[in-house]
Amino acid sequence: VNNIEARTRSAFCYAPGKAILVGEHAVVYGASAIAIPIENGVRVAITDTESHLKKQGIGPLMRGVGTFLFGEAYIGERSFGPAPIKAMLNYLVEIFSKDIEDLVIIVDGSLPPGRGLGFSAALSVAVIKAIDRYLELGIDNESLYKHANALETIFHGRPSGIDHAAVINNRPIGFRRDKDQGIHWPIHIGCDMTMVVAWAGPHDGTKNAVQMLKQRKERHHDLYENIFKGLDNLSKAMEKCLIEGSLVEVGELMNIAHGYLSAMMVSTPELDRLCSIARGRGALGAKLTGAGGGGAMIALSEDQGSKLMQAFQDAGYPCMVTTIKKTIS
Ligand code: MEV
Repeated sequence: VNNIEARTRSAFCYAPGKAILVGEHAVVYGASAIAIPIENGVRVAITDTESHLKKQGIGPLMRGVGTFLFGEAYIGERSFGPAPIKAMLNYLVEIFSKDIEDLVIIVDGSLPPGRGLGFSAALSVAVIKAIDRYLELGIDNESLYKHANALETIFHGRPSGIDHAAVINNRPIGFRRDKDQGIHWPIHIGCDMTMVVAWAGPHDGTKNAVQMLKQRKERHHDLYENIFKGLDNLSKAMEKCLIEGSLVEVGELMNIAHGYLSAMMVSTPELDRLCSIARGRGALGAKLTGAGGGGAMIALSEDQGSKLMQAFQDAGYPCMVTTIKKTIS
């Protein structure tokens, strides 16, 4: 038994997904935004059971299973797999050195990737934390942010930082960029909230959505600046309502946020339809969440969420429920 234990070590980590309640896209241009964690997330297991990989010159190896079914990726002499995952592995070797070269990183979970629900942020945070546990380094929060940001840059180009801030904090946060620095603060929710998250096909990618919006903004600079200002005000109003636990108002503000996102052309007929379905079944508010152009929407439920879940399911869309508990201060 001792021999097996000596040869086989493992470490695990789970990180939640995220949903943005208000301020996606505008946050890239300095507006404040609000994000919540969602229960469905990414699970990472690290083992060294296949340390013979190192001898073949292919470690570390990442295996995506479950919702993240991409197969395998590895670097080294016989490099293989999706380019962003290989770039991620290269960064990890740079940071954690050769100590991780013979590891197998297995990624699984309950969060659909490519839907604007923070999959890449959850993946980045869970992988870094699992490696940290495996190597028993005791990484500090500042380094965790730095490395998560570097990995998110591989996936998103130039992220505002809101996704990994929400994932790392695992609680509702306000977020704003100030002189290229991400600032976040906790938001103490005044009552329990139930959100139902539904999603359609994958979006075109956050990087692409941010880039296309930038081009539209260049054509209509002042109009977009006004929208960002409107969203910044909306964010502040929503923070107040969340703290007071005024859910009817929170829902109304979510509907307004969706209107702004439509004006910025990041909604799609399918996301609009999902919002209509939710509102028609009594949701207090509904909006697309994340980069848009496909992906997911969130609806604030007036009850435990089963009515909305049924409505989405009847319409043929997968969905999940997430509850944010009142903050006990
Ligand atoms: C993506 O979840 C949110 C965006 O605002 C991009 C970002 O903030 O990096 C669209």
